[in-house]
Amino acid sequence: MRACRREAVERTPVWLMRQAGRYLPEYRRVRAQVGFMELCKTPRLAADVMIATVERLGVDAAIIFSDLLPILEPMGMDLEFAAGEGPVIHNPLRGSTDVARCRELTDLDPVGFVMDCVAATRAGLDDGIPVIGFAGAPFTLAGYCIEGGTSRSWQHTRAFMLRHEAAWHELMGRLARTVSRYLCAQLDAGAQAVQLFDSWVGCLGPADYARYVLPHSRTALEAAAHRAPVIHFATGNPALLPLLAEAGGTVIGIDWRIDLLEAWRVVGPERSVQGNLDPTILLADRATVRQRTRALLDQVAGRPGHILNLGHGVLPETPVENVLELIATARGG
Ligand code: CP3
Repeated sequence: MRACRREAVERTPVWLMRQAGRYLPEYRRVRAQVGFMELCKTPRLAADVMIATVERLGVDAAIIFSDLLPILEPMGMDLEFAAGEGPVIHNPLRGSTDVARCRELTDLDPVGFVMDCVAATRAGLDDGIPVIGFAGAPFTLAGYCIEGGTSRSWQHTRAFMLRHEAAWHELMGRLARTVSRYLCAQLDAGAQAVQLFDSWVGCLGPADYARYVLPHSRTALEAAAHRAPVIHFATGNPALLPLLAEAGGTVIGIDWRIDLLEAWRVVGPERSVQGNLDPTILLADRATVRQRTRALLDQVAGRPGHILNLGHGVLPETPVENVLELIATARGG
């Protein structure tokens, strides 16, 4: 929390995106018994997964165990996590009139299980471990709604944006206002910070980001930012960083495609930064993990406002001992 506020800390805090995931045998054991959506919708179990992970890894923060996409179900999207395939939306939005099918949520009861998970995670951890809530950013959520799943190029989404500008802004507005309420509800439930994931927005160039995305990401972040630190995260295109900062964020999440200090210069000294180790270093040997982690910490040299993390999530193939090595190095071991 102090790093979010750019206050001095004894040591750089560390947590990892996807810290509780398929690379962990304990997680795979839970998943052998319960489907992914069922796990997300069982607050006690979802909280226990993250609490056990935080204790095992010794990280400094707990992101709640959930996903970007469950919020889309009560909005009208027919979501399924198909085994081995990732998320599928069976009724994707392809024409401008389809937008009517994706309704704004003013009442968040249908995703009350997320707020229950926040509260159970908070209750199960030491006071010194902040709980981070999260949501998908409007662009990344719109991408799933339009493509019907993950995509390499997000071409239906970008074509929709260009061909049906009014319908695009209508959809993005609905998503942004829903996400704004959702982040605030997670703060009400006990989250101390929230992260907005714009995982796939890097497929856009700066001019299109400014026109089609920025105002909506600002709407999504604004209310929560009055109350708590917000982490604004995107990947894939460092050229967007100044615009990402303009949209909002106490902390800007930085991926590995840019030097961290260069990124910090671009987003400005009034922001904190989170990142930015390449997740594939965790597929190398322990000496490499140690050396790359040290090099990043040496480079930042204790400047206040750095949260150590990967530039994107832990990959499922990652050996657990490499994750432990990263954290031990960050903790000065
Ligand atoms: O440990 C954590 O970081 C907390 C939990 C978390 C998950 N998803 C669990 C999950 C968080 C913060 C997310 C966010 C999320 N979900 C993102 C943004 C982060 C990113 O990677 O950019 C995105 C794009 C999604 C959508 C999503 N969820 C996809 C594309 C997939 C399938 C592919 C994959 O990499 O797993 C998921 C499934 C998912 N979300 C799993 C987990 C642990 C795996 C589900 C399983 O057990 O099979």
